[in-house]
Amino acid sequence: MALRPILTVPDPVLKQKSRPIEGGVTDDHRRLMDDMLETMYAAPGIGLAAIQVGVPLRIIVMDLSGKDEPKAPRFFVNPEILEKSEEMAPYEEGCLSVPDIYDDVVRPARVKLKFLDYEGREVVEDADGLFAVCIQHEMDHLEGVLFIDHLSRLKRETAVRKVRKAQRDR
Ligand code: NI
Repeated sequence: MALRPILTVPDPVLKQKSRPIEGGVTDDHRRLMDDMLETMYAAPGIGLAAIQVGVPLRIIVMDLSGKDEPKAPRFFVNPEILEKSEEMAPYEEGCLSVPDIYDDVVRPARVKLKFLDYEGREVVEDADGLFAVCIQHEMDHLEGVLFIDHLSRLKRETAVRKVRKAQRDR
């Protein structure tokens, strides 16, 4: 496994749409998922989409386990949302590609999703709470959408400026 650099705003690669994996999950994809997981843990973060390490494939890794709980890595290949609740819920989101910026985003409170897992098996699962927030946030990345794109233009521009400045000062 290897750490990969995480792209940050305003890198134009983050605006790219990711393409589905065709022909099933291969060892190459699993190697990428292993690297993504290690990169996410090291950051540290709870979710990461492949485009955030510069790979435009529809792959997401996630671990929502608490600090004192055993690790619980999850892998989502070609995820699709089958149903969304009408009920919406706000959550204060952050993103490894927009470091140190947090703001409320309102999304459907529950979703039903379909995806392929690490072994390439098809899974259908209901998500609520943090899982629902995180999978919708990560699936936005696959469309080139960041959580700050859900905020006002002023907040978005301020966030990008802060991230650029922090990078310059590093
Ligand atoms: Ni993100």
